[in-house]
Amino acid sequence: MVSARLATLSFVCACVAACEASTARDVASEDVADAQDDTATVEVDAEVDDAAAFYLAAEPQRDGDPAKGFQTLAAGAYVGCGVPAELVPVAQGAGVFGDEPGLPGRDGDLPYYLSQFTVASGVEVVGPNCFTCHAGTVQGELFLGAPGIDLDFGGFASQIASFKEQLPLAESLLSPESYAELVRFATRLELIAPWVQTAVAGTNPADNLAGILFSHRDRETLAWSETPLIEPPDQVVLPVDVPPLWRMKKKHAMFYAAAGRGDHARIMMTTSTLCVDGRSEAEAIDKTFGDVRAWITSLEAPRWNPAFGGEIDPVLAAEGKDLFVATCQRCHGTYGDDDAVERYPNRWVPAEEVGTDPAVALGAAHAATRFVTWFNESFYGETAHLDPKPGYVPPPLDGIWATGPFLHNGSVPTLATLLDASKRPRYWRRTSAWNAAELGLGYTTVEVGHDQITTNAKRFVYDTTLLGHGNGGHTYGDRLTPEQRTALLEYLKTL
Ligand code: HEC
Ligand code: HEC
Repeated sequence: MVSARLATLSFVCACVAACEASTARDVASEDVADAQDDTATVEVDAEVDDAAAFYLAAEPQRDGDPAKGFQTLAAGAYVGCGVPAELVPVAQGAGVFGDEPGLPGRDGDLPYYLSQFTVASGVEVVGPNCFTCHAGTVQGELFLGAPGIDLDFGGFASQIASFKEQLPLAESLLSPESYAELVRFATRLELIAPWVQTAVAGTNPADNLAGILFSHRDRETLAWSETPLIEPPDQVVLPVDVPPLWRMKKKHAMFYAAAGRGDHARIMMTTSTLCVDGRSEAEAIDKTFGDVRAWITSLEAPRWNPAFGGEIDPVLAAEGKDLFVATCQRCHGTYGDDDAVERYPNRWVPAEEVGTDPAVALGAAHAATRFVTWFNESFYGETAHLDPKPGYVPPPLDGIWATGPFLHNGSVPTLATLLDASKRPRYWRRTSAWNAAELGLGYTTVEVGHDQITTNAKRFVYDTTLLGHGNGGHTYGDRLTPEQRTALLEYLKTL
């Protein structure tokens, strides 16, 4: 399934993320003044950082119709390219799609991660959609908006190379216009392939993808250029975990380092930097994205199902709630109250303070100022802008138990290990998508890292010593006793 998802066209996105684009700079000392508290006992934490600079104010957003937004996601031309629709029966005949589920309310048997639409040249194509990355399995079932964590971008370049080799076969089956579209799509994927080679299967290259797409596009006309117009990003991918989309109803800024400000709908359509090669086409897509945002902000997190992990112990969970209020809420907010939306603080925490891998927030190689500038001076920057902070946003924790692995780089497999840094595996391999005991992914600890594994098996080992893959920091759970951590985990199941 995974290889079909990428091989058929793989995806694209760019949801971008230039997302994390941020300047490589030292964290200003005032930023660090927001010091982490390290009291040994659990008391209500009085040290709330209320410097305005750490808070992300709400900005006006477009209204929209969620149902129409879902239609757009399922059948809109926002990615702008794909495989000519005539070839779909060929792919089906060859069993490429297997028995993957489709999208609710959509006729035909395209799998959920593909959409059929007409591109600017008038050709009907089937291309990737947002669900390539933004749909995942929760409790054994596909859940739209959950993180897609099973993509392996490691084989992308070779898949695209073999896709290109098959082009001559397709030529005889297609009209010249359709064939030209197929070639356009394949050529685009071939160009980006070297920039999306993640080191570990399951991690996502969306930020780097945004950088390479911005590099090849004229910011005003949106015309594509085969040669880069600004310096491309580094090819070493800093991995980002796919976030669940149901958080967006609470968030004032998109992306891990709070880069996405202004009109979120415009930022969400940045996926169109793959193949939407002109302004008028982009303007038409933009008109439909208020609805897409409305669909995304209508999403609810999944609720805990005892069939997948036992009944929640109400006494233990209540104890956990008190611990959460004392140690976690100042950053992550409160839950279960009528005004829970308002009680999510929408702040960011300097990378030095939270202590998690700083590469994404502090702007390593691919996340440079030139991509922020490109965006802000482009069509996309007319109503939105990128303003990355040198730190990370503590996300809303609704449905958090369903979204392993954890941290912005997906370096920590379970919530139990997130809350006890001494238990976090340095090298680990996934064994299953659900680990009811520790809440997160099933995993086994591996003895050695990438430098000692010579086979392709290394792609399945998360090596936390690689650039951007560090699993340190966020030690707020460490000072709790094991019993307190158990109570806190029980509470997290209720979110
Ligand atoms: C290639 C995989 C991929 C595709 C395709 C993709 N995204 Fe994303 N998306 C990501 C990743 C990874 C992030 C996190 C990036 C970051 O914060 O640096 C993200 C972040 C987001 C966010 C911000 C979430 C948050 O909590 O801040 C939204 C909203 C979003 N994507 C919507 C979309 C929409 C809508 C589409 C389709 C038009 C789309 N994405 C296509 C991978 C993808
Ligand atoms: C000082 C602010 C702060 C405090 C206090 C704090 N967190 Fe966090 N938390 C963060 C930040 C910032 C991140 C994002 C870090 C990253 O992704 O690198 C985060 C990430 C997380 C994540 C991972 C989210 C994901 O989707 O990967 C979980 C779970 C979490 N925190 C739970 C807790 C719990 C439980 C507590 C209390 C024991 C707590 N946090 C206390 C700031 C805080």
